[in-house]
Amino acid sequence: MENILVIDFGGQYSRLIARRIRELRVYSELIPYDTPLEEIKEKKPSGLVFSGSPSSILSKTKRPLRIDKRIFSLGIPVLGICYGMQLIASLLDGAVTSSGRNEYGKTKIKLDVESLLFSGLKQVETCWMSHKDSVLKVPSSFKVIASTHSLPVAGFEETAKHIYGIQFHPEVIHTPSGMDILNNFLFNICKCSPTWTMVSIIENQVSKIKRKVKDGRVICALSGGVDSSVAAILVNKAVGNRLTCIFVDQGLLRKGEDIQVKKTFRENFKINLVHIKAKDRFLNKLKGVTDPEKKRKIIGNEFIRIFEEEAKKIKGADFLVQGTLYSDVIESGTRDAARIKSHHNVAGLPEDMKLKLIEPLRMLFKDEVRKIGIELGLPDELVWRQPFPGPGLAIRIIGDVTEEKLEILKKADSIVLEEIRRAGLYKRIWQSFAILPCIKSVGVMGDERSYAYPIVIRAVNSEDAMTADWVKLPYDVLERISNKIINKVDGVNRVVYDISSKPPSTIEWE
Ligand code: XMP
Repeated sequence: MENILVIDFGGQYSRLIARRIRELRVYSELIPYDTPLEEIKEKKPSGLVFSGSPSSILSKTKRPLRIDKRIFSLGIPVLGICYGMQLIASLLDGAVTSSGRNEYGKTKIKLDVESLLFSGLKQVETCWMSHKDSVLKVPSSFKVIASTHSLPVAGFEETAKHIYGIQFHPEVIHTPSGMDILNNFLFNICKCSPTWTMVSIIENQVSKIKRKVKDGRVICALSGGVDSSVAAILVNKAVGNRLTCIFVDQGLLRKGEDIQVKKTFRENFKINLVHIKAKDRFLNKLKGVTDPEKKRKIIGNEFIRIFEEEAKKIKGADFLVQGTLYSDVIESGTRDAARIKSHHNVAGLPEDMKLKLIEPLRMLFKDEVRKIGIELGLPDELVWRQPFPGPGLAIRIIGDVTEEKLEILKKADSIVLEEIRRAGLYKRIWQSFAILPCIKSVGVMGDERSYAYPIVIRAVNSEDAMTADWVKLPYDVLERISNKIINKVDGVNRVVYDISSKPPSTIEWE
């Protein structure tokens, strides 16, 4: 498959570069800067992009991140962005300086529109800069193709070797013509064709799964979230009724979710679905447990136990579907070792199950998974479902989980979602939900003193859940949510809004 490799030097926008290239319908992957040259060659890339980096070419304390210089003799077009450009200059016979040319933010830039990279652009454009070092001298046979008032070399090219560098970031929205520049690199310079579409991904995956599974049987742990649902539908397209989905309903799901999962999979897609109602089993295990980590472990273990029991009943299952996403793959390579919370995932199944894995979404970002879901005909409700943690509402009930608290939280949560939807905000918010803390406060209702639970509303926006900002919900939406919860949910007399971001808070409360 035609592909562009983004060589990742740890820049904050590396992932965004790959996403932008994919938006232009060319497949792109991120690979670490120290990937051996042989491996790079094996992937047969049509082009390479060197990303930005927190590292400095000129650092005397830390060794700057480099790449094998022989990469330039492979004949593959290269685009260096920011640090990537400086790296090209320093690997070849150019020079980099740190002498007072810092630039941050939007800057006017003069472009040589004769360059293939800037073809169709205006002579003066706006771009986004974020750098301390800059190129002082271009390598011999290179030509300067962009400059700003304070930066004589903001872009260069070597057309015979197809090597290009730009000091600014075309991948961010603050560079309005950034997509045109990437477009020029992909199609004018790398000679790619825009063939990477949702339809082509589906066809590709379906034939891959067919080849892998042959006449074997497949099982899938279905959570009802978008990732496992899309993965299941894709696999179903490839193997039909040799797929069985196991939906372990721990009783900790949002209101109405179980009904919708059953309807979608059994009725719309005619998929074999084993629906395990295990609410009592989970609540019994959770009785009196208040420690968040213990709650997570109990739920995770119980889930695996039930899944294994059910999987054994399916004779001859050889494969297991997982909804692993590309962000999980990238992060597992770089994730900080400090454990904040032990995440329970339907993906966290034991290795000794001896099932071979099928991960059809492994190279996809969340928004691409959603697009595939739409293409496959999954209902909007499911495709746009906000992320939901594996341990479910149990980690949104602070302290011990009881049937009474579950009922309160489910009702309050469905009001939050209903009002967020009514305000047209649902798709624009990463997650919005209710939390039930384990305290009570005094209120007055109908002239009577009340002593009841508060409900906390949490709404955050995020790209990948690693960081998140609290959403500035309009006051009238907050007011409607508050009034409705207090009036309709017995046992609640107060509603508060969580205005903390991640870090230092986390998205979930436990
Ligand atoms: P935190 O609370 O760590 O959450 O900021 C980050 C994202 O992960 C979700 N989350 C989980 N997802 N299993 C999951 O599959 C889990 O155990 C789990 N805990 C948190 C959370 O909803 C947010 O999107």
